[in-house]
Amino acid sequence: VPGIRINPSILSADFVNMQADLERIGSADFVHVDVMDNHFVPNLTFGPQMVERVQQTSPVPLDVHLMITDVDRWAPGYAELGAASVTFHLEAAADPIALARRLRDIGARAGVAVKPATPVEGLFEVLDEFDQILVMTVEPGFGGQSFMADQMPKLARLHDEARRRGSQVWLQVDGGISESTIAQAAQAGADTFVAGSAVFGADDPGRAIEALRREASS
Ligand code: DX5
Ligand code: ZN
Repeated sequence: VPGIRINPSILSADFVNMQADLERIGSADFVHVDVMDNHFVPNLTFGPQMVERVQQTSPVPLDVHLMITDVDRWAPGYAELGAASVTFHLEAAADPIALARRLRDIGARAGVAVKPATPVEGLFEVLDEFDQILVMTVEPGFGGQSFMADQMPKLARLHDEARRRGSQVWLQVDGGISESTIAQAAQAGADTFVAGSAVFGADDPGRAIEALRREASS
């Protein structure tokens, strides 16, 4: 199967042993970095200073997921510090296309995310403005929540539309992805899989990554 990507989320890593945890996921495609501001979501993580150190330390490129308001103010800084991709929420952006273009100009892949209640149809006409679209499969804010299978029809519609238009956009899922849920998301059209607790909660994160990869391609 071409283009399966597994992106472990450091939200479930040990925040005071981050370097050691990063070294355990060298077989991942990207490291997923959840930035939360206790405003867009009811939780708080870290900001650019921490992410810059992760960027300097990580064996794999960074996939930054911004769960924050004020995206125009903050998103470009993550691209400037070298993140491979920067994803902001559609619900938080005044002008998503302008912001995506800014991120691409800086050299990052531009991503847009939608919460479970947010429709994706508005993105159909502008798919090519983005490099990746993130369909949340939990309410954003916390790791370890249950996978929302009811998001699969939305993902499948997005996948069909991308196919129909010959778009190269990556389709990402985030939330509740495990060995037992990843195949459903792959069947609905996802190619990029974020997993926090399923990777960092495992005794051997490297084996967990390979198990997810295998299930996604099954
Ligand atoms: C949740 C975050 C996710 C989180 C996923 O709001 O965006 O990236 O780390 O954690 P799991 O895989 O445990 O659901
Ligand atoms: Zn995330």
